[in-house]
Amino acid sequence: MVVRDPHRFVNELDESARERLAARLESRARDDVFTRLLDNYVARLALPPLAEVLEVGCGTGVVLRALARRDDFTGRALGVDQCGHFIDTASKFSRDEQVDSRIAFQVGDAHGLDLPAASFDAVIAHTLISHVTAPLAVLGEMTRLVRPGGTVVIFDGDYASLTYGYPDHDFGRLVDEALTNVTFNNPRIMRDLPRLLPGLGLKLADAWGDAVIEIGHASYFKSFAETYVPYVKRSGLVPEDAMDTWHNEQRQAMENGTFFAACNYYTYMARRI
Ligand SMILES: C[S@@+](CC[C@H](N)C(=O)[O-])C[C@H]1O[C@@H](n2cnc3c(N)ncnc32)[C@H](O)[C@@H]1O
Repeated sequence: MVVRDPHRFVNELDESARERLAARLESRARDDVFTRLLDNYVARLALPPLAEVLEVGCGTGVVLRALARRDDFTGRALGVDQCGHFIDTASKFSRDEQVDSRIAFQVGDAHGLDLPAASFDAVIAHTLISHVTAPLAVLGEMTRLVRPGGTVVIFDGDYASLTYGYPDHDFGRLVDEALTNVTFNNPRIMRDLPRLLPGLGLKLADAWGDAVIEIGHASYFKSFAETYVPYVKRSGLVPEDAMDTWHNEQRQAMENGTFFAACNYYTYMARRI
């Protein structure tokens, strides 16, 4: 049985698997759902004119490119990811979009970065914390890097709430759990943050939730299923032929307008004391 969060072990995947994950990150970024959730917290960052922003686990750089495109962002940003392939892709896309004068990218492990303490006005983890080996260590590193009074943003899904509609409810729940367990190392971490943040020297400034729901049509959850169903099949958590049946029925539901899927997402904005 192989249950290994692909984003956590991205450097052990072959090139085509990494390409597929990169394509998923880019397609998700074009989705209205993703744009809305990102804009929600970026609009509340209240950054100073020469702000220095760090994103840990930046992937192909979609968050920082979106930040750099905003008229109200006049600072500079650094994106760090453990995956050299993603960092090369992020650098290329930021050159293509001519935002590279404002964004730099470098390889690094969010558990411990070779960057000076208190050097950023905001430190962002956008769908990172659900994937890392040791979430508390990553949160500690984010806190070290933000200046006192600066903002730490943690945005991620509560993947224990991920669900696809399926006529056989018991089997549907088995697939939901398998998708959650193969994709995320920490599917419930967002429920722990109110308890964890104070001990790190972070004061919660704001927090809210958004339900991402697609009924009838599918875009966000279509790409999610296409990316992660192969990992469920390899995991042995669900028989491969049953998983194919489930996926075919989801595709049919997308075509005939009977599709349903949902997941809760949470944003935490905390200030370093
Ligand atoms: C779901 S992707 C999110 C990427 C980007 N934030 C976005 O929203 O498009 C998770 C990213 O975290 C990175 N990652 C996972 N563990 C990491 C770690 N320990 N240090 C740095 N990056 C890590 C992965 O390589 C991947 O790019």
